Amino acid sequence: MHSEIDFGKIELAEAPPAGEPARQQYFMERLREVVEERSRKYGRPLTACIQTFGCQMNAKDSEKLLGILLQAGFTASEDEASDFVLYNTCTVRDNANQRVYGRLGYLNSLKKKNPHMTIALCGCMMQEPSVVEKIKKSYRFVDLVFGTHNIFRLAELLYRCYTEKRMVVDVWGGTEQIVENLPSRRKYSFKCGVNIMYGCNNFCSYCIVPYVRGRERSREPEDILAEIRALAADGVVEVMLLGQNVNSYGKTLDTPMTFAALLRQVAEIPGIERIRFMTSHPKDLSDELIGVMRDCPKICRHLHLPLQSGSSRILKKMNRVYDKEQYLALAKKIKGEIPDLSLTTDIIVGFPGETEEDFEETMDVVRRVRFDSAFTFIYSKRTGTPAAAMEDQVPEEIVKPRFERLLKEVQRISAEVCGKDVGKTMTALVEGMDTHDPALVTGRLSNNIMVHFPGDASDIGKLIPVLLTESKGFYYMGKRLP
Ligand code: 5AD
Ligand code: SF4
Repeated sequence: MHSEIDFGKIELAEAPPAGEPARQQYFMERLREVVEERSRKYGRPLTACIQTFGCQMNAKDSEKLLGILLQAGFTASEDEASDFVLYNTCTVRDNANQRVYGRLGYLNSLKKKNPHMTIALCGCMMQEPSVVEKIKKSYRFVDLVFGTHNIFRLAELLYRCYTEKRMVVDVWGGTEQIVENLPSRRKYSFKCGVNIMYGCNNFCSYCIVPYVRGRERSREPEDILAEIRALAADGVVEVMLLGQNVNSYGKTLDTPMTFAALLRQVAEIPGIERIRFMTSHPKDLSDELIGVMRDCPKICRHLHLPLQSGSSRILKKMNRVYDKEQYLALAKKIKGEIPDLSLTTDIIVGFPGETEEDFEETMDVVRRVRFDSAFTFIYSKRTGTPAAAMEDQVPEEIVKPRFERLLKEVQRISAEVCGKDVGKTMTALVEGMDTHDPALVTGRLSNNIMVHFPGDASDIGKLIPVLLTESKGFYYMGKRLP
């Protein structure tokens, strides 16, 4: 099927430029020729489907990947029975890997029905050599594998895949390169994630992210601000600044700058009404940042501040660089300065060596801080991380009941905390229609809690004042105000 297309002619036309992004622009054009040729042959548009696993970073990467595919002439589809299917994978916990392997079996069955189908895998999981070996050996129907550092090269890689007629694998160990100005297709018209930095230098002992996302690199503030100005001009009202540890933004720039200073500049951009950010490491959350959050109403009343464990002994083994008392003091200070702030967290249960006493310390912090919500995880051993080599791994039969106890406590507190604003009027950004009731829309409050209230599709993307009439535990019902 490949051989009927005259790729030689395309290749001979001109040599690809060496510099970026010109090189990728060239390959998007070349790929477009191939896509058009195939569309003509099949008598229909070529469809592409991207499935995203994992975090906001991956969601953002997927918008970039889709932008490239649309530029190359593909039609976007939600259906995995597409001509090109790309899984953007996560590997932060082993169950993320298992989900991908499970779904690959299903993709193989689809490919048997549509031999034109091309299957690609990218993202964090592909940065692990053992995964790539397994794919090469046992998942031969996969056509393309690439990692986290070269997603900007999708057009070039897919073009190679179509022309070389064999599995293409291109995973980079790391990069200093930040390629700007490639297309991107936003999932929402009114809100958008913006990368402010890539990679991570923290090396928490359980975490695989520094190994799969590489060293920390901050984008130049001018590039970030230009991107946000362009988004505002295009109707975006809410931006989410993305980084593994936004609090260390700017430290490695030629002209260093703080994250708080960046926030202040973003807040000055006309049209941007709301600013969120993800994720903050407690070890370097500055007073300057707390001050900017307090004084700038555009910065959302939400802080995600991963605790991981409440035991100082375990935090030390995790290499988190703060202890229980420091975390408690920080949470108290933030709540004191910004009382209406919603504080959320991540907690790991069953880190190697965790005793019942250590676990009780975590429960103690949960009860004292009273988080608005908490993501709770069972520790997952990630090969290559220091924690994986620790001797005292905690058996599952001990971890599971602890996890259940923590979850119950977190949910009980969060239901109490989240109902506290009933009777208040707050502004909601309408994100979409309510999935259960067509007479309602779903909006997000500044503190990240959802509210459902009467409305229609014309409200989507608008900021609307809403009276919170009833708490449903984790969300509100509301009444719109004129
Ligand atoms: N096991 C369990 N949870 C983990 N996280 C990161 N690595 C692991 C691991 N090995 C959690 C942390 C982090 C969140 C994104 O995922 O809580 O904050
Ligand atoms: Fe995101 Fe980390 Fe998962 Fe990669 S491994 S997708 S950075 S959560």
